[in-house]
Amino acid sequence: MARPRHIGVLTAGGDCPGMNAAVRAVVKTAEHRHELRVTGFLDGFAGLLADRARPLGFDDVAGILVQGGTMLGASNRDDPFHVPITGGGYEDRSDAVLATAARHGLDGLVVVGGDGSLTIARRLAARGLPIVGIPKTIDNDVSGTDITVGFDSALCVVTEALDRLHTTAAAHHRVMVVEVMGRQAGWIALEGGIAAGGDVVLIPEIPFRYEAAAAGILARAHRGRRFSIVVVAEGALCPDGGPVVRRRIADSPEPIRLGGVGAVVSDALEALVPFEVRYVVLGHLQRGGVPTAFDRMLATRFGVAAVTALAEGASGCMVALHGDRIERVPIDESVTRPRLVDPLGERVTVARSVGTIFGDEVSA
Ligand code: F6P
Repeated sequence: MARPRHIGVLTAGGDCPGMNAAVRAVVKTAEHRHELRVTGFLDGFAGLLADRARPLGFDDVAGILVQGGTMLGASNRDDPFHVPITGGGYEDRSDAVLATAARHGLDGLVVVGGDGSLTIARRLAARGLPIVGIPKTIDNDVSGTDITVGFDSALCVVTEALDRLHTTAAAHHRVMVVEVMGRQAGWIALEGGIAAGGDVVLIPEIPFRYEAAAAGILARAHRGRRFSIVVVAEGALCPDGGPVVRRRIADSPEPIRLGGVGAVVSDALEALVPFEVRYVVLGHLQRGGVPTAFDRMLATRFGVAAVTALAEGASGCMVALHGDRIERVPIDESVTRPRLVDPLGERVTVARSVGTIFGDEVSA
């Protein structure tokens, strides 16, 4: 294969802190180490579809390391294989994407994305466009890597929020229910709960009963703790109705938007405990702000590794963290199923060991 000379980069899916750090690393490594030209496509795959792009050089990425969001824009609804058409229905416009890549003379593409975007990347790679993925999402639910870019930053936001809610809950002898993001994975709730000493943690991977969660709150009250913090993942399965869906977005690779479980859990618990119960939804605050040092490091390491992979002729793979090593895994493997919390795994055992209540039979 001829040596690549020109690569593209795009950031797709929900934004998160660390995306800019990844773009910066891609541009600097491409130019500095491999003498590659870089074009950035705007708003995820929408930019590839409509050919909205800008050249990226050293000067363009100066100062973005510390910035949240993404200088390229992102979208979690533009799937070129499933584009809505006027009058109803959808069509496959992947030919247009490949035409854009050809027009620019792209020899490869770096896709910074979560599992929805990496699934699109896999399909485009199968059609002949060399692609290397960088896993990012606050949800931490991409298989094949120990952690995704953005998770640590979101976790820090959640931990700080829980710390703040702790003091007001204690002062008013209340139960505070805190709804966090994560889609069908409970990583943010679980690790936020461990880091901030959440008393009850409700996650999709561990079915819960309100009575068992309330029993934990009452047991605390018997020990003189007249307040509790309940961390609930947005994807937690309510005993009486499953996940709480806020809306459906038809043209999104992941059409279901969760939200509202905090209010449902709050109402249910208020009927079972002798405390006032209030709820807070952290929402998109979890995706904002500057990336942590960990995410800057990870995104930079991933960015360098992704460009190196393309320069070496790799395609259809994702860079991943395994222990302390950055390795390549086939995108196929990483998008087959989400990476969920293991209910019998070490993190859950740690949480149970320090008294976290999951509202299941084990901790009831
Ligand atoms: O995947 C990241 C994420 O923030 C999820 O945790 C959340 O369910 C979803 O995106 C929210 O999507 P939107 O930004 O479209 O509301």
